[in-house]
Amino acid sequence: MTAQIIDGKAVSVKCLDKIAAEVAKRTAENKRPPCLAVILVGDNPASHVYVRNKKNACEKVGFRSLSYEKSADFSEAELLALINELNNDDTVDGILVQLPVPDHIDSQKIIERIRPDKDVDGFHPYNIGRLAVKMPLMRPCTPKGVMTMLAEYGIDVKGKNVTIVGQSNIVGRPQALEMLMNRATITVCHTATKDLPAEVGRADIVVAAVGRPNCIKGEWIKDGAVVIDVGINRLENGKLCGDVEFATAREKASYITPVPGGVGPMTIASLLENTLEAAKLHDK
Ligand code: GUN
Repeated sequence: MTAQIIDGKAVSVKCLDKIAAEVAKRTAENKRPPCLAVILVGDNPASHVYVRNKKNACEKVGFRSLSYEKSADFSEAELLALINELNNDDTVDGILVQLPVPDHIDSQKIIERIRPDKDVDGFHPYNIGRLAVKMPLMRPCTPKGVMTMLAEYGIDVKGKNVTIVGQSNIVGRPQALEMLMNRATITVCHTATKDLPAEVGRADIVVAAVGRPNCIKGEWIKDGAVVIDVGINRLENGKLCGDVEFATAREKASYITPVPGGVGPMTIASLLENTLEAAKLHDK
């Protein structure tokens, strides 16, 4: 079997078009455009690219965006004070602090300072907790984007065996909660997992979120499985690749996401959806 490619870029364009139409409707109703504040501390080159992409996407759909680019010596206290200011600014709907932050800043403290109704990343324990009890408010962007993409391709997760490789707060854990909310049977793998190839081999749907190039081997994939690759790894030759060995996995899977052009664009689409949702909350 040669898998059909899941075109995340195309799905994201569709999401962005829908958001832009809603922004135009808001303008016609004399409502303000949604506003996202993006904060970047330090000079991580990948973070600069991600933040630029987020700002460009805001512009495309007609959002207002505020950008705070601070040097690596910006203190934790200064960052908390900036978040306080944005929390209290009624014209700001969403606040995003790009991760990772420099070592002298406690990222969990930062995440917990953002008001949950402005936490468009969905990382605040309040938002993770709401997702855990099937009453989501702000849903973490990458796992949400994966669910949107699967739905767009008519792939129902209900009753499926889903193996998630990776247990991060950003992807693996909230992805498990998203899948469980949609009645999948979930397995979450990590470095203490005894037999990773066997866990992957049982899966109807595999979500790889490890951050190590080609670490999920194509030969592990069950015939006809759906493969979602969240990894974005830069190789020494400058090329991007995922966590899954793409060419061999494609010969086993029914559907597979490419890197780039798969999950990546969906993360941004979800961020904009969350910001629009936050603006709607703040209308009232
Ligand atoms: N770093 C890697 N992924 C993300 C994300 O989704 N949001 C933020 N804020 N930082 C990240």
